[in-house]
Amino acid sequence: MEKEIKINFEVIPSYDELNDIEKTLFDKAKTIREQAYAPYSNFWVGCAVLLENGEIVTGSNQENAAYPSGLCAERTTIFWTSANYPDVKIKKLFVIGAPKDALSSTAIPPCGSCRQSILEYEAKQKKPIEIYFASLDGEILKTKSIRDLLPFSFDASFL
Ligand code: THU
Repeated sequence: MEKEIKINFEVIPSYDELNDIEKTLFDKAKTIREQAYAPYSNFWVGCAVLLENGEIVTGSNQENAAYPSGLCAERTTIFWTSANYPDVKIKKLFVIGAPKDALSSTAIPPCGSCRQSILEYEAKQKKPIEIYFASLDGEILKTKSIRDLLPFSFDASFL
């Protein structure tokens, strides 16, 4: 029997349609992206996370000459967040990535490993994390939970 999984996402066509906190997250992700350490791929990614206490944590991708030792912007950011605020829930995660010198880009979704890591914290905090991924031009895709980006997800409930 064939079955279907439906996921939900929203397309926010321009920066102007974001609310104030979303605009702040967009701006902070875009700014921190400029400090990415990505000399090997030249693909610069910035991430901004809104915590339930109102604080915003930012991060960028960090590469390494031994390629697999590098880390994506999303994981750099959420690992630091969890290390420093282990009991504070994450409300929103905003990511923006594009080649270093690009003036225009498409919205880049989190990679598979980042989705799995975000899921870990969503399951831990028992509250969905809203995920936004944006292009430099201001087109934004949004899901209400990481589960929309990771159907058939594996989490601690199976262990
Ligand atoms: N990258 C991220 O930071 N986040 C993603 O979700 C996708 C990929 C980084 C990893 C690497 O430094 C560069 O982009 C090219 O893959």
